[in-house]
Amino acid sequence: MKLLVTGANGQLGKSFRDSVSLLSEYEWHFKSSSDLDITDKEAISILFDKEEFDYCINCAAYTAVDKAETNKEQAFLINSQALKYLAENCEKSNCVLIHVSTDFVFNGLKETAYTELDETNPINEYGKSKLQGEENVKKLCSKHYIIRTSWVYSNYGNNFLNTMVRLAKEREELNIVNDQFGTPTFAGDIAKAIVYIIQNNTGHYGVYHYSNEGETSWFGFAQAIFNYIGSKIKINPVSSNDYVTAAKRPKNSVLNKDKIKITFQLKIPHWKDSLEKIKL
Ligand SMILES: NC(=O)c1ccc[n+]([C@@H]2O[C@H](COP(=O)([O-])OP(=O)(O)OC[C@H]3O[C@@H](n4cnc5c(N)ncnc54)[C@H](OP(=O)(O)O)[C@@H]3O)[C@@H](O)[C@H]2O)c1
Repeated sequence: MKLLVTGANGQLGKSFRDSVSLLSEYEWHFKSSSDLDITDKEAISILFDKEEFDYCINCAAYTAVDKAETNKEQAFLINSQALKYLAENCEKSNCVLIHVSTDFVFNGLKETAYTELDETNPINEYGKSKLQGEENVKKLCSKHYIIRTSWVYSNYGNNFLNTMVRLAKEREELNIVNDQFGTPTFAGDIAKAIVYIIQNNTGHYGVYHYSNEGETSWFGFAQAIFNYIGSKIKINPVSSNDYVTAAKRPKNSVLNKDKIKITFQLKIPHWKDSLEKIKL
């Protein structure tokens, strides 16, 4: 079994590298952005002609949510157009495409957790580009899993956890938004869940939601991080109106995971348990 991981130097890509020991009998091909630019149609086609992949796990994305408001063209090129190239090549070579997407495809106005059947209606350019990418995957590749996730963190790269750990050393006080709700999700858990899906591929292709269990606000997440690292920093809960960003964020990002749990008999860790397993 040959597996291709694109965007292999991002936080999710690196978490896949950490998970390789779970599937060491398989042949892994990790491609960073410099090894394989997913917007390079020809390079993708050459690679797929050379190797017969069984799975392509797309971790490559334009993830700078605020910059996407002004750098729309680049966001759509990477998050949408490039998915056409990957999907077409997967379809041609009978390869399963596992594409990672986001809670930002929703507008966040629903009062309960979002299911896969809920209407999508992104409120920022990043969300719109990711939704268009999902549509390209659905249209062009019959064997696909689209895994929507939320609030991803790990030891790698820029994420909320690493930012809070850094700010705990630099500041005495912080304002953190407490009116956006979601579920922090450890990238290592997403990688393990995808590996589990590959091992237990039921052929029930389609869209699935995956995040850790439970829900909180950014303020609640920050509180848990500071407790975990034993920081005494003072944190003040503030509303989104007091913390203006270029891109609007959904108020509710909580994902309902019943479909993935039932289809694959998957057990999902609670976000607090996963946070407390991370080594900082
Ligand atoms: N982070 C979150 O909170 C979050 C939440 C929900 C969903 N997601 C989704 O989860 C997935 C993984 O995100 P992540 O947090 O791991 O993001 P990340 O750390 O920003 O990694 C994205 C990777 O994609 C690579 N990349 C960018 N353009 C590329 C191109 N043209 N060709 C090949 N690679 C390219 C980047 O490489 P360079 O560094 O070289 O540019 C980077 O290594 C994405 O689909 C994202 O939309 C993330």
